[in-house]
Amino acid sequence: MCLPSSPPTPTYRFAVVMVMRRRQPGDGNTRLFAHPPSSPPPPASFAVSGADGGKVNRIVLSKNGETSQYGNDISQIALDVEFQTKDRLRFKIYDPNNERFEVPLKIESPPLAAADTSYDIEIVNDSSLRFKIIRKATGTVLWDTSLANMIFADQYLHIATNVPSSSVYGFGEQQHPSFKHNMDHITYGMYTRDQSPKMYANLYGVHPFYMCIENDSNTHGVLFLNSNAQDVTLNPEPSLTFRTIGGILDFYVFLGPTPENVVQQYTEAIGRPHFPPYWSLGYQLSRWGYPNIDVVKETVKRMEQYGIPQDVQYGDIDYMNHRLDFTYNKENYAGLPEYIQEMKKGGLHYVIILDPFLTKDEARGTYRPYELGEQLGIWVNNSDGVTPAAGQALPPGYSVYPDYLNPRTADWWTQMCVEFQNVLPYDGIWLDMNEPSNFLNGQYPGCAHNNLNYPPFVPRISDDSLFHSTLCPDSKTYLGSLYNTHSLLGWSEAPPTFRAIQEATGKRPFVLSRSTFVGNGKYTAHWLGDNHALWEDMHMSIIGILEFNLFGIPQVGADICGFYFDTTIELCLRWTQLGAFYPLSRNHNALGQKEQDPAAFGIEFAAIARSALQIRYSLLPYLYTLFFEAHVFGNTVARGLMHEFTADPETHGIDTAFLWGPALMITPVLQEATRSVDVYFPEAPWFDYYTGDKIPASSYKKYVSIPAPLEKIPLFIRGGYILPTQTPATRTARSRLNPFELIIALDEQGEASGSLFWDDGESIDTIENGNYFLAKYTYSEAHLRTRIVHNSYQGVDSLTYDTLQILGVTSRPNTVLLNGKNIRSNDIHYQENGKLTIHFFAPLGEELDIILQ
Ligand code: GLC
Repeated sequence: MCLPSSPPTPTYRFAVVMVMRRRQPGDGNTRLFAHPPSSPPPPASFAVSGADGGKVNRIVLSKNGETSQYGNDISQIALDVEFQTKDRLRFKIYDPNNERFEVPLKIESPPLAAADTSYDIEIVNDSSLRFKIIRKATGTVLWDTSLANMIFADQYLHIATNVPSSSVYGFGEQQHPSFKHNMDHITYGMYTRDQSPKMYANLYGVHPFYMCIENDSNTHGVLFLNSNAQDVTLNPEPSLTFRTIGGILDFYVFLGPTPENVVQQYTEAIGRPHFPPYWSLGYQLSRWGYPNIDVVKETVKRMEQYGIPQDVQYGDIDYMNHRLDFTYNKENYAGLPEYIQEMKKGGLHYVIILDPFLTKDEARGTYRPYELGEQLGIWVNNSDGVTPAAGQALPPGYSVYPDYLNPRTADWWTQMCVEFQNVLPYDGIWLDMNEPSNFLNGQYPGCAHNNLNYPPFVPRISDDSLFHSTLCPDSKTYLGSLYNTHSLLGWSEAPPTFRAIQEATGKRPFVLSRSTFVGNGKYTAHWLGDNHALWEDMHMSIIGILEFNLFGIPQVGADICGFYFDTTIELCLRWTQLGAFYPLSRNHNALGQKEQDPAAFGIEFAAIARSALQIRYSLLPYLYTLFFEAHVFGNTVARGLMHEFTADPETHGIDTAFLWGPALMITPVLQEATRSVDVYFPEAPWFDYYTGDKIPASSYKKYVSIPAPLEKIPLFIRGGYILPTQTPATRTARSRLNPFELIIALDEQGEASGSLFWDDGESIDTIENGNYFLAKYTYSEAHLRTRIVHNSYQGVDSLTYDTLQILGVTSRPNTVLLNGKNIRSNDIHYQENGKLTIHFFAPLGEELDIILQ
């Protein structure tokens, strides 16, 4: 547990010395004007508005009090407020006289201030100098901070704000017991770290982003763009206190007003999620500790024998020679290249792990990746800026660390990955240990006593240390000392890896990264790290998945069945059912644990796993369409119930159930020896996925006990939506050729809509190049229309529809007309629960008009 953290009382004050005034008629669009300090003081309270303003409104503040507790205060600071878009505001507090570190993430700033904004700001020029951000439509104050009480010292920056409600989500990467944060003086540290998920500890990634649902259910989000070690304290007022030890105070506010709008606006700024290859949505199998290639082959084989869907097989460090990147073990893994080719033929994909450290201690002339890198001088260096930092990690001896922030390093890495494709024809790359991890505390021979390695203040991070399990902060990277860039190293590894896969394979990349930072979703998927085979961890995984969807990294999952500890059959079974609905569905476990692939436990387990994964595979067209929407519009893929039912406060606290898009509710069993789930049904028509039974309206806004025998994970479809599905197969390469079905779940008006995105599943930039198929479906007044919005993917020509399933039909139709022709009565099946199944045949590439009469 975290102890309450009381922010230090400021011992000094800032006061306004200069105000850049609003734009006047005749002013240039982006010019700024200053009241010199001698000009009359601004009015007691003044508002600065973007509507008629220049691009930036600036006030300059001067410190007129004592020194703050950690010293080295900056005496003059500037606050720039940019009205970037209608719904995005940036405010940046910095030292106008000296450059300080700023995160090298490009967020497009439109050249002109947005003319019409959904927010206002207000600065009250009294002794506390309150700076407020207000939602115009409701008057809700989203941010309310005292600029006078802020601290801006060289190594200690502190700002606190009141927030309008305690429905606060986000901040990562942490494990914590509920999706909606506990605001009782909880502090989260943020500093990337090789740390197996542990309550409240700072983990692998850094995402200083939160979302807040206001009391009237409008929602906004805020990014604190800072990469230094930092923490945030959530207080019951409700308020937030941010503390960081470097950089600047750079905030972006996203006005929503829905949770989905917030994520759309956030990812518009930081980069939309990559569009994953179709196969990467299939089931993925991994483990650390396949002792040799034969065990991998046996595992894949028994998966096939049981008919359990699988699309990806991983190679953890076992495949390497001496755990060296860009090598493979020619004894234990003899024949791996040929086996990968064989897997490819069977529709399987192979993803290899790579670590961000290379041993410097191999015999000369034997390890080219290191030697080339050494020649190029591309490693993270000691504080002298020339001696490579030498830590100890997985390979034998001492290791050096590529400085991916250096463009030359990025090129070298890309080249190494591309060349390695000729050795192992991998399909995707798994980036591990990139916090970066080090088994020493600081590199050899230890961290010097200076203000970077031992800053005056250390945020609430594990071991109270900036160099525990990593390199010394005074080490040098291309963009300056690790003190500023530490949490960006894994992030900077992503683009060159993405590029490398494109170059090496000519196909759409799949990169899975452990360490992430703001904007990683543009290049990578993420898994939640080295969890434990515990029921509690299974529940925590839902929270992690929902959070990473907020962070713009929707392709996320946890190690199914648990990484550390031996799993149990029941836990692994329930976890396989839940994991079948992770956006990234991967089973992985640690060296020394017993095997836990779904074929390892015998026929009964295999049958249950198969049926859960078959449901996943049948729903992949819907899931893929959600990823298309994430890539293009920035939507989440897995989302909390509160995204869709924001006005229902009960949904704000739900993290035992979640949705795929707006339409599929997943309600897993999360406790041992439990055969039912208490499901909360927000007010909407819901249908049981398995039977098509409609949940009675009397159950809305209530928890209802739903039977969940071992072989079943309860699932519900929301009325008003049309979900495209496909007959499953054991590989997506095959399921993608199968007939499509539409599940049409009607709302109270008897209407529904949906869409299907389709392409070849693996080419680069199909969306950007227009090589895809997009159909929109609408159902109303017993009439289904499919409209083809875009049709430039020829592969559609060989695909067909064969079934419609309409849920919520009030009576059996006498006839069903497909494009004017009667469908045979034998092909129409009506059930008393209102489920109508229609079998027919029609090409996917033609528009349908189906009328029930
Ligand atoms: C790290 C990874 C884990 C992997 C192991 C060996 O602990 O998080 O997934 O199996 O290293 O490479």
